[in-house]
Amino acid sequence: MLREAWENEWLRLRDTAAQEVERVPTPDELESLRVALLGRGGRLTLLLKSLKDLSLEDRRAFGPAANGLKESLERAVGARQASFAARRLEGELAGTRVDLTLPGDAPGRGSLHPLTLVCSEIAGILSGLGFTWAEGPHVETERNNFESLNFPADHPAKDMHDTFYLRTSGLPLLLRTHTSPVQVRALEAARPPAPLRIMAPGRVFRHENADASHSSVFHQIEGLCVDKGVSFADLKSTLRLFLEGLFGPGTRLRLRPSFFPFTEPSAQVDVSCILCSGQGRLPAASGGGTSSPDGSVGCAVCKKLGWLEILGAGMVHPNVLRAAGYDPEVWSGYAWGLGVERIAMLKYRISDIRLFYQNDLRFLEQFK
Ligand code: DAH
Repeated sequence: MLREAWENEWLRLRDTAAQEVERVPTPDELESLRVALLGRGGRLTLLLKSLKDLSLEDRRAFGPAANGLKESLERAVGARQASFAARRLEGELAGTRVDLTLPGDAPGRGSLHPLTLVCSEIAGILSGLGFTWAEGPHVETERNNFESLNFPADHPAKDMHDTFYLRTSGLPLLLRTHTSPVQVRALEAARPPAPLRIMAPGRVFRHENADASHSSVFHQIEGLCVDKGVSFADLKSTLRLFLEGLFGPGTRLRLRPSFFPFTEPSAQVDVSCILCSGQGRLPAASGGGTSSPDGSVGCAVCKKLGWLEILGAGMVHPNVLRAAGYDPEVWSGYAWGLGVERIAMLKYRISDIRLFYQNDLRFLEQFK
């Protein structure tokens, strides 16, 4: 390139380029201008490339100034890009109204599971009667679940098909079939033997086919009191206070002889029906059951019996005390076990046990 042509182009760029960058009205045009000046084939780029065709003297004269122009143009373009961006943001913000008074998105409020509600209610009543919380593992030894509880070796409950056994090389282990092994654990933990008053809530496992009233996983609450001179009268009065607390004042108790290997004597404990108050019948139009000539209807909750089976109980068998290191000549006690699901089903009139385990919000939300 001729020196004169080079110099003319240089002077034009030097005198006009900066102003063009300043005046360009839109971001798109700024980009076109940037390419036209500083892009790979841009005017200033080409001019700088052709510096090499000038004499050494001219290169020294123009080189630094031309490079300086390139840098200052790049800075100017950057500044204009930033100002366009700032203006666009301002415009966007001006067009957007943020209403700070609108209510936020409230996170859904959860609630306690009905089984948890029943468990805590029972635990509240029992702690008022002096019982403290105790727990045991779901995986138990055959000894704690059966043997120490005085189950005979050939008891049908020990049948492989009635229980979930774990394959182990050491001690026979199983998923506990009731909360009663916590009795064994609590008694054995007390060394030397000492008075004991515990409640043991927790999950238990049985080999069951699931239906409206059976589940292979369910919950129990065990009660155990051991002391010197504890009698059947103590069992009965404690259960009366407990069940009146749970089902309301006026609840009546009925004890029928029963059998459990770990208690002697044993009782099946019933309460007067919570719906018909033990009448077996309800005045007409109160729902459920079949009507009779006097217009009353049979109670659907107790199936017209007037009584509800609530729990199993009894005096701790001497063999259970002995196995845990308590001398049955000195110590005596009572125990009971109840099903949490059964209580919850009665209290909330739930007809299918499976509802507790399905996590269906339509069911669970009713307990808020
Ligand atoms: N463990 C018994 C069961 O699962 C329930 C039971 C009955 C527990 C009587 C007791 C009791 O502590 O005294 O069927």
